[in-house]
Amino acid sequence: MRNLTEENTTDVVLNAWSKNPDPRFKEIMDAMITHLHEFVREVQLTEDEWGAAIKYLHACADISSPERSEFILTSDVLGVSSLVDTINNRRPDGATENSVLGPFYIAEAGELGEVPVIQNGDDLIGERNKDGVPSYVRGMVRDAAGNPIAGAALDFWQNAPNGLYDVQEPENGYNLRCMIMTGADGRFAFTTTKPLPYTIPLDGPVAVMMKRAKRNVWRPAHLHVRIEAAGYETLTTELFIDGDEYLDDDAVFGVKDSLVLKWELNDSAEDAEKVGIWAPFCDIENDIVLHPVASAEAAE
Ligand code: BEZ
Ligand code: FE
Repeated sequence: MRNLTEENTTDVVLNAWSKNPDPRFKEIMDAMITHLHEFVREVQLTEDEWGAAIKYLHACADISSPERSEFILTSDVLGVSSLVDTINNRRPDGATENSVLGPFYIAEAGELGEVPVIQNGDDLIGERNKDGVPSYVRGMVRDAAGNPIAGAALDFWQNAPNGLYDVQEPENGYNLRCMIMTGADGRFAFTTTKPLPYTIPLDGPVAVMMKRAKRNVWRPAHLHVRIEAAGYETLTTELFIDGDEYLDDDAVFGVKDSLVLKWELNDSAEDAEKVGIWAPFCDIENDIVLHPVASAEAAE
């Protein structure tokens, strides 16, 4: 392994890595080395540019913590998270599409404790979110044939009228975050506030890079939802708002047409009162269509 040249470097390096006994690990390493070398050759990377990339990685490490990963954010804004998500969640037409998880999801028993479990019809607005647009969110978790799926666990999270997720102000506890289990009718319903567009975190190297490239740092408003149900693929997705100015310029590439809903205003005080909120309010009905896991499909 001596006398590396521009021409032989890739072959020599691949050979050095060739004894890898794990075929998948080897496939990934070989492709990564090959593409990285091709990239360096294509752009004729200078030493200063290589140094800037290393400095960028250090800056990501410095600002990252168990609660915040600037590396994941890098993957998000480069479209890698979205691509990995799409490749790994191919579903037939009719099944609800996946979208990126994002950094603001707490599975359970995190710093804030157990995630609140609510019942159908419960309210998430409370006193804390009264400044937002009240919204009634409902639908059915079902299969593609229209059969309700009982025992589905839905996790919802979104930002508040101040633009923040609860995990961004943990001292104030959970906010606009809940789990609901579906009953025999597969239905879910709760009142919340209309989510707002927000920026990705602006205090780290990702935002510096984006601003330098004149890229948009905003995400269109969305409601996150994650659904687990026995026998079905777990769905992680986002519900967007038709007309949002950032739908075609999402900083992290999460928008799909099928996930854009009309959050139309209903002016009826009577309708609002029936669900315990006030007019004008948004009434959003959207079914969530799960796809069976491959083994369940084969058994049908
Ligand atoms: C989010 O939707 O919560 C999100 C996703 C990726 C980066 C930043 C935020
Ligand atoms: Fe989000």
